[in-house]
Amino acid sequence: MPKESVTVTDNRTGKTYEVPITDGTIKATDLRQIKVSQDDFGMMTYDPAFMNTAACRSSITFIDGDRSILRYRGYPIEQLAERASFLEVAYLLCEGELPNKQQLSKWEDEIKFHTYVHTNITKFLEGFRYDAHPMGMLLGAVGALSTFYPDAKNIHDPANRYLQRIRLLAKLPTIAAFAFRHSRGLPYEFPRNDLDYIGNFVNMTFSIGGQHQANKVLQRALEILLILHADHEQNCSTSAVRAVGSSHVDPFSAVSAGIAALYGPLHGGANEAVLQMLDEIGDKKDIPGFIETVKGGSDRLMGFGHRVYKSYDPRAKLIKKVAYDVFEQTGLNPKLEIALELERIALEDEYFIKRKLYPNVDFYSGLIYQAMGYPMDYFTVLFAIGRAPGWLAQWEEMLLDKDQKIARPRQIYVGSEERDFVPLEKRGDRRKVERERVSKR
Ligand code: CMC
Repeated sequence: MPKESVTVTDNRTGKTYEVPITDGTIKATDLRQIKVSQDDFGMMTYDPAFMNTAACRSSITFIDGDRSILRYRGYPIEQLAERASFLEVAYLLCEGELPNKQQLSKWEDEIKFHTYVHTNITKFLEGFRYDAHPMGMLLGAVGALSTFYPDAKNIHDPANRYLQRIRLLAKLPTIAAFAFRHSRGLPYEFPRNDLDYIGNFVNMTFSIGGQHQANKVLQRALEILLILHADHEQNCSTSAVRAVGSSHVDPFSAVSAGIAALYGPLHGGANEAVLQMLDEIGDKKDIPGFIETVKGGSDRLMGFGHRVYKSYDPRAKLIKKVAYDVFEQTGLNPKLEIALELERIALEDEYFIKRKLYPNVDFYSGLIYQAMGYPMDYFTVLFAIGRAPGWLAQWEEMLLDKDQKIARPRQIYVGSEERDFVPLEKRGDRRKVERERVSKR
């Protein structure tokens, strides 16, 4: 049986080191023994953007990016999307197993019980400009929840962590709906305990004068989208929640950091960017020209490509199916034709084939949200509601992981050597000083 280790020879010193392999990885700190002298700090790894570094062990989500596999706690995403409710999936992610009947009904009741937010939250939401981006409002309001629940700082008490999970899952749709109403100048619609999680959220967003005609097909479509977004292992926003949470701050502050990360166009903001892109293309005949600008490097095909999936994103496949159910109810989104043609052309193009670029979760989701009546800048808010259980589950796992400490990457310093302070009157042209500095190197 071959030994589970690698042998490294440092050609600077001729010394040889044996480094153990566990789960196909070596510990970066094991490389620190590789030194050229006693006072050498030791070898580090350089891995910007964590391209090849596992930062944790996790038992929540499994992805095989080459084989289009996504599983939450072992269950294939296809089965969960077809058969589970969003709150069942949230329980699965946060508590580790699918709930039985009693557990599910307790979970649903507890979440219902916590859907109201303190009235003062409505007051500071009113302080935002009429055209404030709802993601900015959401991340501000979720961060502010920590001031309403100072007990959330008690992160080492499991019962307390459970309570904060319930609070956040319950209140996030309420805050999100209030942000939606704010941008339309509509009065806030308060939570209704006779409705389920999705029904209540849809009612809080669309009800006018207390009236909203529920469409069960659209509600189930939204529920499936939330399930598909519920977790995605160590993505940018989850890593943000873990990193901020590793300082032992309360979960509301940690999750608001996750919302901030999600806001960006390379992450959750891509669903909004896809619709903007489809608007800019405008017509099917302009697609080849657009593809050329992408290949020339001056644009990106938004909703395409993924750090982990090097084949079709399984979520995009499921979303495409949902799109047709939704369009049967709402009528076809006219941009669908452009999106389908864009996908067809891209998937046949050498540039995209060579780089293994396929549609991701965001390529079709925006078209569905738009058909449901949500404005473009609101799409990422819907993603955030979906991702909340994943953030909370990963936060909990991080806190219970004995290997974890405060997140604190190393760096390779490439700045100036020590130099003397220059008084203001002696500082010349900054560019000239910089040129002199570089030429002295
Ligand atoms: N359009 C055109 N070229 C692309 C694209 C794209 N969407 N994505 C990647 N590439 C090219 C990239 O230019 C590079 O080419 P080259 O090797 O010639 O330099 C190559 O493919 C590898 O790309 P990368 O930027 O090194 O890949 P990454 O893993 O760092 O980035 C990504 C992943 C998702 C940020 C990127 O694919 C992207 O910007 N996609 C568009 C934005 C998007 O749809 N984001 C949503 C991601 S899924 C949901 C989520 O995470 O929220």
